[in-house]
Amino acid sequence: MTVALRRATHRRGQAAGGAFEIVPMRRRHLKAVVAIEQQVFPTPWSLSLYLSELAMGSTRAYYVALVGGEVVGYAGLMVAVGEGHVTTIGVSPRFQRQGIGRRLLLRLATTARERGADDLTLEVRVSNTGAQALYHEFGFAPAGIRKNYYAEVNEDAIVMWAHDIATEEYGRRLELIAARVAEHDERGGGE
Ligand SMILES: CC(C)(COP(=O)(O)OP(=O)(O)OC[C@H]1O[C@@H](n2cnc3c(N)ncnc32)[C@H](O)[C@@H]1OP(=O)(O)O)[C@@H](O)C(=O)NCCC(=O)NCCS
Repeated sequence: MTVALRRATHRRGQAAGGAFEIVPMRRRHLKAVVAIEQQVFPTPWSLSLYLSELAMGSTRAYYVALVGGEVVGYAGLMVAVGEGHVTTIGVSPRFQRQGIGRRLLLRLATTARERGADDLTLEVRVSNTGAQALYHEFGFAPAGIRKNYYAEVNEDAIVMWAHDIATEEYGRRLELIAARVAEHDERGGGE
């Protein structure tokens, strides 16, 4: 997928003409990934943790979002016994709220379906209502609380599930989201 992300490139004063794409995460991306990680997470993953995730092969799928070749976001998925688990998703602060998280999650949900997952789950901080709104769009609903899951910041996690993602109905949900993304691109990122 390569589209001009005009809002990202023009509004934020980036180099003009930066193309947007989502590609599989590689070792060469990790320095930039960890730099974003350190900005957006209170307990960031280390480079070696990412390296070990990338070494896990077909049970994992990690992607980066690039604007003009620069890593601006990333997301990861673990798939096992018919369940997909969103392990991480992050967007550089200066590129947030421009639809990049939505595109990354669309990629993960599509990959989860392709790899035979029936259900998709994740944990999110109770206070992270922005991310919860994004997950809701993808059919995730709260299913429980993990007490003090983020012990370092003394915060509970909400466990969310999107069920029956292999169905045609869920496929239509993803198509609608993809159409919204495409419409956004045609409008030049909403300008
Ligand atoms: C959560 C995160 C990945 C979202 O990425 P993003 O690119 O900023 O999100 P998008 O622009 O694709 O947002 C899609 C929708 O999600 C919701 N949303 C995202 N961020 C939001 C916020 N801060 N406040 C309210 N709603 C928000 C909105 O419904 C938004 O649609 P809209 O802009 O058309 O209203 C990003 O904010 C981030 O990296 N946060 C820090 C790390 C983090 O919390 N990761 C999730 C851990 S579970």
